[in-house]
Amino acid sequence: MFHVQKPTGPKEAQYTSMTRQLKSLLEDERDWLANLSNTASFLAHSLHDINWVGFYLLKQNELVLGPFMGKPACVRIAVGKGVCGTAVAENRTQVVSDVHQFPGHIACDADSQSEIVIPLVVDNKIIGVLDIDSPIVNRFETVDKEYLEQLASILIDATDWENICLDV
Ligand code: SME
Repeated sequence: MFHVQKPTGPKEAQYTSMTRQLKSLLEDERDWLANLSNTASFLAHSLHDINWVGFYLLKQNELVLGPFMGKPACVRIAVGKGVCGTAVAENRTQVVSDVHQFPGHIACDADSQSEIVIPLVVDNKIIGVLDIDSPIVNRFETVDKEYLEQLASILIDATDWENICLDV
């Protein structure tokens, strides 16, 4: 059984703990669906002030909902649409301090006030995104962006992506 220790204290210390825990959580498994699922659960139980966290996977130029924790969400997002589709189109992390100020933001949970979306890049190709929503404005700072990108890299490195069904 894996026991998530919800970190406290300064953000850097929290993320140091999360980095260690996520590596441990994923070390014995390389299946993409299992690792996406456990990472979504781990982040939901570790991060403070979060109301939705999960993955969208890129299939035929469209993002399709993957493993997540939170309320049911919109299933398909076109590349270039919303925060998630913009992260893919621009191939860079989107930090949105107030979703109501982001043109084209797609509202899946009325509680969401701020959001971060990180592209998942495997062998120079985007396979999907990690999307995290918060019920407070300006939840995600530079330190969050840097460490959450590191956590996404840990997931990518810990996982075999050859069998991911991107063309169905
Ligand atoms: N807000 C996202 C849609 C996904 S939900 O937040 C889960 C967007 O604008 O792309």
